Amino acid sequence: MCGIMAYLGNQKAAPIILEGLKRLEYRGYDSAGMVMIPDDSLVLFKKKGKVSQLEAAMKDHQPKATIGMGHTRWATHGVPDDINAHPHITHSGRLAIIHNGIVENYSELKTALLKEGYTFKSETDTEVFGNLVDYYMHRDETSLEIAMSKALKKIHGAYAFVMMDRQDPDRLIVAKRQSPIVIGIGDEEFFVASDATPIIQHTNKVIYLEDNEIAVIDRSQGLIIKNYDNRVLSKEVHQLDLKLEELEKGGYEHFMLKEIYNQPQSISDCMRGRVNSDESWIVLGGLKSSLDKILDCRRIVMIGCGTSWHSALIGEYLFEDLARISTEVEYASEFRYRNPVIDSNDVAIVISQSGETIDTLAAAELAKSRGAFVYGVVNVVGSSIARMTDSGSYIHAGPEIGVASTKAFTGQVTLLTLMALMLGRKKGNISQKTYKKLISELEKIPSYVSEVLELTEQIKYIASEIKDCPNALYLGRGYNFPVALEGALKLKEISYIHAEGYPAAEMKHGPIALIDENMPVIVIATNGSDYDKVVNNIQEVKSRKAKIIAIVNRGDHVVKGLADHVIEVPETLDPLTPLVSVIPLQLLSYYVAVMRNCNVDQPRNLAKSVTVE
Ligand code: G6P
Repeated sequence: MCGIMAYLGNQKAAPIILEGLKRLEYRGYDSAGMVMIPDDSLVLFKKKGKVSQLEAAMKDHQPKATIGMGHTRWATHGVPDDINAHPHITHSGRLAIIHNGIVENYSELKTALLKEGYTFKSETDTEVFGNLVDYYMHRDETSLEIAMSKALKKIHGAYAFVMMDRQDPDRLIVAKRQSPIVIGIGDEEFFVASDATPIIQHTNKVIYLEDNEIAVIDRSQGLIIKNYDNRVLSKEVHQLDLKLEELEKGGYEHFMLKEIYNQPQSISDCMRGRVNSDESWIVLGGLKSSLDKILDCRRIVMIGCGTSWHSALIGEYLFEDLARISTEVEYASEFRYRNPVIDSNDVAIVISQSGETIDTLAAAELAKSRGAFVYGVVNVVGSSIARMTDSGSYIHAGPEIGVASTKAFTGQVTLLTLMALMLGRKKGNISQKTYKKLISELEKIPSYVSEVLELTEQIKYIASEIKDCPNALYLGRGYNFPVALEGALKLKEISYIHAEGYPAAEMKHGPIALIDENMPVIVIATNGSDYDKVVNNIQEVKSRKAKIIAIVNRGDHVVKGLADHVIEVPETLDPLTPLVSVIPLQLLSYYVAVMRNCNVDQPRNLAKSVTVE
């Protein structure tokens, strides 16, 4: 969370930084700011609210500086306001700092600095670190770079920092641990950002800064990367494979809608070159090279957060059902702190769209440190999780910008399905005939998704019926239970309606007490997944007068007779059902949010990439 963008080169810095911050706004959007050094002074702008508000405040005041840095914030320490917004200027007025992450021991450092006569304007941990650097710089009469290395050794937590010294307008200093930093290398110019999206329009050459590295970006010396002990490191320059148009809305009202509609394509992209139904094969390069490791393991632990955790739950059903490998699912944030039993007999599959979620990254590191083989299922190429895993597969969904995940979810589920099929076949648990049938059906999923997307008008109407309800309940069984969780999460995230997802039968152990005529109950009742049992659960809900919205397969008559609305989707094989049944739920929450005038792409309090604990 929080987006960082800095520039040093020959062009005017402000427009480049503003443009970059807009691309990074998905990481946080409660306040934004920018600082530049046009001569030997720091010119600072900060504004509560969106980057557009910062842009408006800077209109007609943009200095000609060719060095500067900006920040879009997701508040951790201190409320979102103009003062807590980054950048921060240190006590001496000489240094400026931006930060993504949390300095955990900021309080004790602040107390020590207060004793040294330091004063603070904001409530942030960032300003404390900035002043610590300021303190070392003045006490030891040293450079910003050396002072920063000293201060970095004193802090705990996660960070990506960029700092500037107004007495040295030719240098940016960058440091990182756990929070991501990408440095773009242009023609005598450099771009520093939290991810590659604001860089791609300027250059496709990038370096990923690793933990405990400092980058010194100097106008005459260029880019030098060191460790904290001042040893110069040689780094690989990567070529980005990202298209600018993938980062635009392309005529859709919101990124989320574009991403929902992109799913026939993104699911196909995930399968491209990996599946052949004519010859009945699936090959995932990453899995092929680690096949023995996974086939011989005692169990698989799937780890993720949010929507990626829901994908993991579907993964558990797939891996146990098709590959007969014992599989458990863990919330990354719990796994990393609860001293789990995991060792070299286990395989951890870590699932993350961004590849930067701090808890998932830490959980993967823990699993690795205990000897487990770590396999990544990641969307963002070159992200931290993708770089630290032993092996893995990208889902190739393309950039996902809407905060509520949609195409990454179906990409993850597609990828996990391919893995389960490949493993199941290798183990001999799936017959050649079933394998062939599942593969050929999997190839039809993009067209099924397209068919569901044609139901938009009906789904809009249903959205208008439930948009004012304060609560909603989502029910499903088997493969559709995690889909119910995902449907409820989507509604909560973007429309702020309280929603719960439940295994349909579990409803009797609590949530049924909440049901009355005001409660919409969204039930996934496709064929397979214990259809008859779900029908019984629908009866129970109907007896309590709930408004029933059911996702069914075409031609269903039983549920039609019970539900207030049925959304008919194409029928597919049970293990593939989530890829189809989730689509109407995504659309439903999208239209409810639009009708409630919510900010669909940037819902309140959320961020796309959660890089703080
Ligand atoms: C945030 C996002 C969710 C996402 C979760 C995990 O909460 O808003 O959409 O599912 O993080 O993110 P990851 O990038 O690890 O999949």
